Amino acid sequence: MLVKHRVLVTGMIPEPAIDLLKKNCDVEVNTEGRVLSKEELISRVKGKDAVLCLLTDTIDDEVFQVSFPKCRIFANYAVGYNNIDVEAATRRKIVITNTPGVLTDATADLAWALLFSVARRVVEADRFTRDGKFRGWLPDLFLGMEITGKTLGVVGAGRIGSNFARKAKCFSMRILYYDKKRNYQLEQDTRALFVDLETLLKESDFISLHVPLLPETRHLIGERELALMKKTAILINTSRGPVVDEKALANALKEKKIWGAGLDVYENEPVIEPELISLDNVVLLPHIASATFETRTKIGIMAAENILAFFRGEIPPNIVNPEVFTEKEPL
Ligand code: GLV
Repeated sequence: MLVKHRVLVTGMIPEPAIDLLKKNCDVEVNTEGRVLSKEELISRVKGKDAVLCLLTDTIDDEVFQVSFPKCRIFANYAVGYNNIDVEAATRRKIVITNTPGVLTDATADLAWALLFSVARRVVEADRFTRDGKFRGWLPDLFLGMEITGKTLGVVGAGRIGSNFARKAKCFSMRILYYDKKRNYQLEQDTRALFVDLETLLKESDFISLHVPLLPETRHLIGERELALMKKTAILINTSRGPVVDEKALANALKEKKIWGAGLDVYENEPVIEPELISLDNVVLLPHIASATFETRTKIGIMAAENILAFFRGEIPPNIVNPEVFTEKEPL
């Protein structure tokens, strides 16, 4: 009898993805609804041929050491893969994959949801209404920021950033964007202007972050950058928490140096800077940008397909370290 490949899935992902893996493999799923500790992860990885991991798992050389040489693929259930030491994986010829594309709309949509929530004070006003404080219409009740016709600053014009920018079409906005390289298609489609970060920060009414977490994007937005923004500016972050210096942001919001912020991600998830929690001018979400039924299923299927392709001897479609296959020495 053919021995089935053994796969560890480190969290409860949508069933269609697990079923897809189960058709071909022996699958062990962590059904506990919590992140595995390092020790648990290491003990469960032992003896597996593949791991489908979550962005909350720290996958470093310690994990690769126990998985090596049997387990040669870690398929991340996310587009961002800053939780994985890709260099260490590549050194050991371990394949890393991610899930680009399938969560672009959901993430860009949530960035817009945050922008609207902060600009129009939706969460604050909901709280007020539930608290029984609504005594009738007033001319100055919950005045917020007009969205239509304003200047939108998009930091990072990759898949998600440019999708977010395109969605501004209905709101007649002037779009500024900043990235390492120009996105000519975006410019053509939206008349977005390519500017330096300083210009974007100074001129935008709403600034939305869409960069991956890399050494050069850590604290891309700190005290200096916040000081460059308009007093009426709103900052949205659906990328990765450490892109923003959370303490500096809390301070800027408290001192009203900027008008508001909407955050889906945090520097030390799930811990949140306590100061932020006490402020009304920030909307805080629990890292749910890709959390739609449709998208989370697509992410799971994509991650599972990466693993199945690898088992068939193919290069997985969403490999992030293709050098594993292209380097000279044989696998
Ligand atoms: C979610 O944060 C992702 O990177 O997919």
